[in-house]
Amino acid sequence: MNIKSYLEKKRERVNRALAGYLDFSPETPPRLKEAIQYSLEAGGKRIRSILAMASCEACGGEEEKVLPVACALEMIHTFSLIHDDLPAMDNDDLRRGRPTNHKVFGDGMAVLAGDGLLAHAFWLLAKTGTPAEVMEAIAWGTGPSGMVGGQALDLQAEGKKLNIQDLERIHRLKTGRLIAASVTSGARMANAAPGQLEGLQKYGQAVGLAFQIADDILNVEGSPKETGKQKTGSDQKRSKAAYPGLLGLEPSRTKANRLVEEAIASLSIFDDRGDPLREIARFIVARSH
Ligand code: IPE
Ligand code: IPE
Ligand code: MG
Ligand code: MG
Repeated sequence: MNIKSYLEKKRERVNRALAGYLDFSPETPPRLKEAIQYSLEAGGKRIRSILAMASCEACGGEEEKVLPVACALEMIHTFSLIHDDLPAMDNDDLRRGRPTNHKVFGDGMAVLAGDGLLAHAFWLLAKTGTPAEVMEAIAWGTGPSGMVGGQALDLQAEGKKLNIQDLERIHRLKTGRLIAASVTSGARMANAAPGQLEGLQKYGQAVGLAFQIADDILNVEGSPKETGKQKTGSDQKRSKAAYPGLLGLEPSRTKANRLVEEAIASLSIFDDRGDPLREIARFIVARSH
């Protein structure tokens, strides 16, 4: 299979669905709507939603069924990025190739755009009759034990010397949990069998950590033109908790590659319907954006 065209096709599908779900009520303040759309429609790889779709399809489910879940995941992820870029957090100026949300709309509106996206995501899940167990998994991956918890640890770690276990914990929470929840949610939308779910849980955890290690590596050697983020080397400058600074570049790459092998090995019970997931795992560490 050609992973590039697969990702492109899926990305277009998600973008189309997302546009449909941004039909806010007339009472929504236009400036808030603009701030939300600005970041959500700025692009992005849509990897979490694609993982949910690929996982659903690997378990025999239909793409249509998982679309609201896929879109909710992207709303939550975009909320996390808007807040992550705020001066009180990473203080970044560029995201998805454009000025960050707060640079255009101000800090207060950026906070609200993030809040709005988070609530809108769960509104969408409820409105489309998403099973409670899927909503629970997404909320868990997002909240104090997931992305938000990891972001808190990430903030507290600034300027501190960490050991590798602490760093891995931060990465597993801030990035790994929502990615893992994307994979398992897709599977649950296809009524996956327990054995399938177990393999996908392991896959999600491994690719989730690999994804953030790859992000750390790109922060060192990525090109701003491709990543859409400005400050290459910013982790080191701000003494952020990141793999290359702690382990070195090559060992970080080795660790990410090992996780990809681990992820692919967890898919052994899947036939060729699992191929997109296998290719996505490879893409996650090979990417340049
Ligand atoms: C960036 O996520 C933040 C991390 C959790 C590493 P992505 O690399 O998925 O960002 P987009 O959605 O493609 O912009
Ligand atoms: C982002 O981590 C994790 C989130 C939950 C948003 P980073 O701060 O390392 O991600 P980038 O490099 O800004 O995208
Ligand atoms: Mg950050
Ligand atoms: Mg950041």
